[in-house]
Amino acid sequence: MALMKWDATFSVGVEEVDEQHKKLFMLINLVFDAMKAGKGAEVLKLTIDELIDYTHTHFSYEEKYFSKFNYEHTKEHKLEHKKFIDKITDFQKEYESGTALLSTEILNFLKDWLTTHIKVIDKKYTACFNKNGLK
Ligand code: FEO
Repeated sequence: MALMKWDATFSVGVEEVDEQHKKLFMLINLVFDAMKAGKGAEVLKLTIDELIDYTHTHFSYEEKYFSKFNYEHTKEHKLEHKKFIDKITDFQKEYESGTALLSTEILNFLKDWLTTHIKVIDKKYTACFNKNGLK
């Protein structure tokens, strides 16, 4: 069973962002599946790298519109993004150096963080984005 499943409660009312969030869920599920299937370190590393790359892409996409629309919660939102990137990058380094193992605990952290971030933090920009024509 997939670790993350997208449903309408995750919609932020902006189609492109919803698609990007779905892709993030898919990538987390890929990491989860690779871990469960006991895939080798190289496969896991590539999957984690892809997840991190796409997280950067997604955060940059949102932040581009924060600037463009002069979004009032830009500072706090960008700080949340930075904290998450720092956390997963630390994990990536520890994993690659062999001092950390990929565990259900880490994946549950990703799942919980993303769920709360989308439902609480991302949803705050819906009105601003929609008002500026991004739906
Ligand atoms: Fe969809 Fe703020 O990340």
